[in-house]
Amino acid sequence: MIHPVIKWSGSKRPQAELIKKYAPDFDCYYEPFIGGGSILYALSPKKAVCGDICKPLIQLWNEIKDNPIELSKAYRSRWNRLQNEGHAVYYEIRDHFNRTQSPEDLLFLSRTCVNGLIRFNSKGEFNNAFHHTRPGIHPDTLETIINDWSLHIKGARFLAEDYRITTESATQRDFVYLDPPYFHTAGMYYGAINYRELLDYLYDLNRRGIKFMLSYDGKSGDIDHTVEIPEDIYKRHIYADTGLSPFKKVMDKDKQQVYESLYMNY
Ligand SMILES: C[S@@+](CC[C@H](N)C(=O)[O-])C[C@H]1O[C@@H](n2cnc3c(N)ncnc32)[C@H](O)[C@@H]1O
Repeated sequence: MIHPVIKWSGSKRPQAELIKKYAPDFDCYYEPFIGGGSILYALSPKKAVCGDICKPLIQLWNEIKDNPIELSKAYRSRWNRLQNEGHAVYYEIRDHFNRTQSPEDLLFLSRTCVNGLIRFNSKGEFNNAFHHTRPGIHPDTLETIINDWSLHIKGARFLAEDYRITTESATQRDFVYLDPPYFHTAGMYYGAINYRELLDYLYDLNRRGIKFMLSYDGKSGDIDHTVEIPEDIYKRHIYADTGLSPFKKVMDKDKQQVYESLYMNY
């Protein structure tokens, strides 16, 4: 299993190997809802264009790619302060992040907050609390992870843009993997997606002859969340076994088998 460098809600880490298996050959890889980037890592493409509407997240990706040594040092100094001075340091850094959107602060918060869940309020402020019973990942361990990811993402460009802009330059030789916020989890993620606009966008990719794979709502326990995607948009629809629901696991320890939909137009 991949060690995440950025812990992100809705990570596709458990499905990365399956998604990789179904990916076609391509020149350039596009991932316009990059989040924690697990599929980018799994594919490790020579050339990629990735985007997300969350600007501090994209700044953090650029730091991982371009300044891994400085980023590790920044984590180490914040982590050392936390061990010596206690939890007030966490809230000082959280306030600083909410004023400045510093990517170094975001990395630190993501590794020391409750359950490692990056969470923003409607004003875009990081609002998760400090995880009192954990020291946060050791700087030596995180440094190894950052350096490894930095090598894997060297060929990627990161854009703080809407998904439609990120994929404007895609051609017929390229592949677009789409992991938008799910229809039934609107409000749980940063940003929101208009379903009608997403369908128009998929029709447009088809018109342009661009291969895409879309992860979308599936089944959770006995509940079928599958959304009616018009059949003329895709060629193949499979359910991918994702293991347990990450939300359920954290929130009520209830065990539910979760399957998500994968749609492919090839
Ligand atoms: C389900 S998450 C992606 C998770 C990712 N596949 C992973 O493995 O970590 C959805 C992402 O879409 C982003 N997002 C929401 N609206 C967007 C938009 N209009 N354009 C681009 N990204 C958007 C969110 O910030 C979030 O990172």
